[in-house]
Amino acid sequence: MITAEQRERYQTDGYLVLEGFVTPAVCEALMARSAELVETFDPASVRSIFSTHEQTRTSDEYFLSSGDEIRFFFEENAFGADGQLARSKELSLNKLGHAMHDLDPVFEAFSHTPALAELARDLGMRDARVLQSMYIFKSPALGGEVTLHQDATFLFTDPITVTGFWFALQDASIENGCLWAVPGGHRRFPVRKLFKRAPGGGTEFEIIDPAPIPTDGEVALEVPQGTLIVLDGQLPHRSDANRSALSRHAYSLHAIEGWAEYPGWNWLHRRDSMPLRPF
Ligand code: FE2
Repeated sequence: MITAEQRERYQTDGYLVLEGFVTPAVCEALMARSAELVETFDPASVRSIFSTHEQTRTSDEYFLSSGDEIRFFFEENAFGADGQLARSKELSLNKLGHAMHDLDPVFEAFSHTPALAELARDLGMRDARVLQSMYIFKSPALGGEVTLHQDATFLFTDPITVTGFWFALQDASIENGCLWAVPGGHRRFPVRKLFKRAPGGGTEFEIIDPAPIPTDGEVALEVPQGTLIVLDGQLPHRSDANRSALSRHAYSLHAIEGWAEYPGWNWLHRRDSMPLRPF
């Protein structure tokens, strides 16, 4: 699936950009499916607002029990002072998560393929298991910033094995909030903090090293529709708010090694009847 040179670049940089991994038609089909899911969703049924700003995510039961569901998370500023959505629901959502890859037939077919299994093997994974899926809207105007983080903070195994597969369903540019990454940062910066279920309910961060990760040398990963970006779980990365008039839909999968220990304090839990599956 990839060349030896690409594998080497992935190991050096901590990310790999694979343009044209997904055809435009398949990107459009995933976007159409997400639109169908949103169509059937009643915003009044939930007021959960997802934000990567730490304080608003904590203690949100809707979030914590979404590891084996398909749930709808709004942007931070989606609701006006009157408690109503200020815009249409499709423009107000931050993401869908976190088990489309197992529960929705369209996303399941996309997420479990021989090509992805081969790619994971090429990248050095021996027993990749798909832990999480997210459909990210990053809508014009409302699509919020995702601050610099390492995915291993949120999906931790011992040893760290989480690997992100981020599919650009639309062109991603600096203007509409593409990914930014610090090349080689996965080797320079051990995981800075761990996002844990708190013993008394809700969640908390365990700080391992309070020093902020420096962003000097970071690069913008501007990519066309259909690009797959693979991200090492320790790579520092972020994305800006969408300040353009264009949306920036993306679908992402996170896989871990089946042989690695997955501590029970991870936020993402799955019921026993839904074991993690390979690609
Ligand atoms: Fe991430």
